[in-house]
Amino acid sequence: MEKVEWDDVQRLVLSGYPKLPFSAYVFWHFVPGEVDAARKWLRRLSDRLTCATAHSDQHAINLALTAHGLQYLRVSDGVLNSFSLEFLEGMAPKPTAETKFPRRSNVLGDVGESSPEVWEWGGWKESRDIDGMLLLYAPDKTKLLSFIAAEIDAMAGAATPAVRQNGEPLIVDGRIYDDRKEHFGFTDGISQPLIEGSPKANGNGRKRSSDADHNKKLTSDEKRILLVKPGEFVLGYKNERRTSISDVYPERNDGSAEPQDIRRNGTYLVFRQLEQDVPAFNEFVAKTAERVYGRADEPAQEKIASQLVGRTRQGDPLVPIERPPGAAPRNDFLYYFEDRFGMACPIGAHIRRANPRDTVGPDADTALRLSKMHRIIRRGRPYGERFDTAKENAGGKQATRGISFIALNADIAGQFEMIQHSWLNNTHFGGLYSGTDPLGHFSCAGDVATIQDRPTNHHIDRPRPFVRVRGGAYFFLPGIEAVRALAR
Ligand code: HEM
Repeated sequence: MEKVEWDDVQRLVLSGYPKLPFSAYVFWHFVPGEVDAARKWLRRLSDRLTCATAHSDQHAINLALTAHGLQYLRVSDGVLNSFSLEFLEGMAPKPTAETKFPRRSNVLGDVGESSPEVWEWGGWKESRDIDGMLLLYAPDKTKLLSFIAAEIDAMAGAATPAVRQNGEPLIVDGRIYDDRKEHFGFTDGISQPLIEGSPKANGNGRKRSSDADHNKKLTSDEKRILLVKPGEFVLGYKNERRTSISDVYPERNDGSAEPQDIRRNGTYLVFRQLEQDVPAFNEFVAKTAERVYGRADEPAQEKIASQLVGRTRQGDPLVPIERPPGAAPRNDFLYYFEDRFGMACPIGAHIRRANPRDTVGPDADTALRLSKMHRIIRRGRPYGERFDTAKENAGGKQATRGISFIALNADIAGQFEMIQHSWLNNTHFGGLYSGTDPLGHFSCAGDVATIQDRPTNHHIDRPRPFVRVRGGAYFFLPGIEAVRALAR
């Protein structure tokens, strides 16, 4: 088994920092013409970046750069071009005379209200590309605020915080609530791939419902379903195709190799600010409960809500699987033999689309193997205040809230974009004939949510999405030595 150099990998790859529930994503531009100052800042920062082997109960800091940021640091063309096309192009390339609506926005389904034309940041109206982002994590709000202020001070002369279209500072917050629920009311962050050889996969640092199963070794089912090769998430190692990005090591014009592969121990980071319309979602759940069960009482609504997601609000999967009392929600389940026709967990439910496990492929085993080539590590968190009916009704205007969505992957096109385009946004996913992901930002004419049932399936009109993209960008989360190399 390949050993990952975890002390050179930023900790976000292994942890969502659950003990540091307050976070801020600070976006910035380098100061034009101040490359030396930028390098000095990065050099100092490199010593403070939280690496995967660090214990971080006080605070944590990680750094991500865009292609524009790398260019500013004057990496050679050979090195720059060793990064993937989608990273170089960015999440929202601007329209040109030839391409009125750029292909990437089409692929992502960033159209209509989610079009980069109307994003608050990172969209087509932007005059300057973002160069990078600091990811700051703290145990409480006061500590987070002083952390942000100190980091903005530390970047003075080298970088300046970016601003939104409306002139406000571009700092998006992220918050893990005690109940770990996102704004639609579902426990989040349950299902993650397990990186082969990582401390968690080796049984160290695993926290479950009781101390007794802490550090428990993985069962053979868990291994089969959840283990994924490190190269799917960390560049420089073998992935599920048994290849590695270092197989295409950049060469200089004179034929010699670059002194250091700055991709090594790094990964790509997808950031999307996804706004959630909670009242519209709740209204849809009530309407659907009425249609499907003939009543909109709480149990009927809870049933529908869980059928849209594929897990109950407490996180238990809908596929038939044993759950011992008091145990944490399970993640070691498959669909093909347990629930092939979606009678328990609808085929179009969010989690079944986002990770079809053993269902998309010629047979169950091959499908599971293929699905491991399309996994992402999710590190997003809710932003904004929680929905409170009384407050919202009294105030008139609806507060803004959503998910600061973060996905980590070694191949944006094959992982994040593939999930978004070919599974979440796909009206024919899993043999369905209309309808997109009920939690997705994309919908199409005649969109429906389908709930499989006997004697016939239910199709409920979903006239518009409950999620809207407000901004986003593709980043690279470099290894720590790579940050030092960039600072030289
Ligand atoms: C506002 C938008 C979103 C909300 C509210 C949301 C919510 C959730 C919830 C509640 C779960 C189940 C809990 C868990 O398994 O951890 C989940 C799982 C998941 N979501 Fe999302 N999600 C959103 C957007 C996305 C997007 C844009 C993607 C990818 C492009 C995505 C990918 C996934 C994946 C891969 C899983 C795990 C599925 C599994 O392994 O079974 N989600 N999401």
